[in-house]
Amino acid sequence: MILQRRNRILRQSAAIRSMVAETRLSPDDFIVPLFIDEGENTRIEIPSMPGYYRNTLDLTVTEVKELWQMGLKSVLLFIKCKDEWKDNTGKEAWNPDGLMQRAVKAIKDAVPEMLVMTDVALDPYSSFGHDGIVENGQIVNDPTVEALVKMSISHAKAGADFVAPSDMMDGRIGAIRKGLEAEGYINTGIMSYSAKYASCFYGPFRDALDSAPGFGDKKTYQMDYANRIEAVKETLMDVEEGADIVMVKPALAYLDIIREVKNSVSVPVSAYNISGEYAMIKAAAKMGWINEDKAILETLTSIKRAGADLIATYFAKDAVRLIS
Ligand code: PBG
Repeated sequence: MILQRRNRILRQSAAIRSMVAETRLSPDDFIVPLFIDEGENTRIEIPSMPGYYRNTLDLTVTEVKELWQMGLKSVLLFIKCKDEWKDNTGKEAWNPDGLMQRAVKAIKDAVPEMLVMTDVALDPYSSFGHDGIVENGQIVNDPTVEALVKMSISHAKAGADFVAPSDMMDGRIGAIRKGLEAEGYINTGIMSYSAKYASCFYGPFRDALDSAPGFGDKKTYQMDYANRIEAVKETLMDVEEGADIVMVKPALAYLDIIREVKNSVSVPVSAYNISGEYAMIKAAAKMGWINEDKAILETLTSIKRAGADLIATYFAKDAVRLIS
């Protein structure tokens, strides 16, 4: 054959492949989710997330120092609230001495440059396990937004660099921005979970925080996975209301959404490589059915290639180890 163009020329060695690679992973890409529990010197492996732990605050601080050493620059905090502090208002969420608030302070004291992001949603604090306040079996929007504003301000006060509302109530980004401005927190960023879908892949996370909904599901606030255009609508509204960074979540079954959002906004786009996506790779690797390291790199690269500027992932440390 005489061919004008042989595409395999650019694939024939590792050197040329690496030179023409369109997508590269870097420690700068990753946000590290951390699960924090009350107590001391204890780490508990999450059964459905092998190799991932819920740490007490002292161990979390040690972990954050290690992450910073590795070149990871951002953590996203989730706390496990004791059952006796849960109620329908979720008021423990804005307790100035709550675990989240103490965690933010302790981490910023230990590693001031680490970007600390906090999850803002009522589910870990709700006796119903819902992201909002429940009235007559409904998740009520506007009272929930008021609670989220209080929660966000208390995180900002504790020193959070970004608040990350993951609740999908209407109007919460604008309300949180207004609240932060009114209290003088003009440097606190908002990373909005803008297109967050009602997904079965959150299961392991709900194990980690004991936060599964006590009744029903989250379909009246999280998005229907059948929808794409709605993701753009949600995201554009969050940008309009003041989101600094937007997010698509989950990531893997939603790569098309990540691209759609990336092409529609001019703010950084993040994607959350969620707990169920982590669990699937871990489970298949444990069975010897896939190569875990290769699956991690391929997965994270696909999320970045789809358009994610930032990736929240439980594989952040593995990825840094694998790319360095
Ligand atoms: C809470 C929240 C969830 C996740 C992040 N924040 C669970 C949910 O919405 O039920 C999921 C993260 C993961 O699965 O890794 N609002």
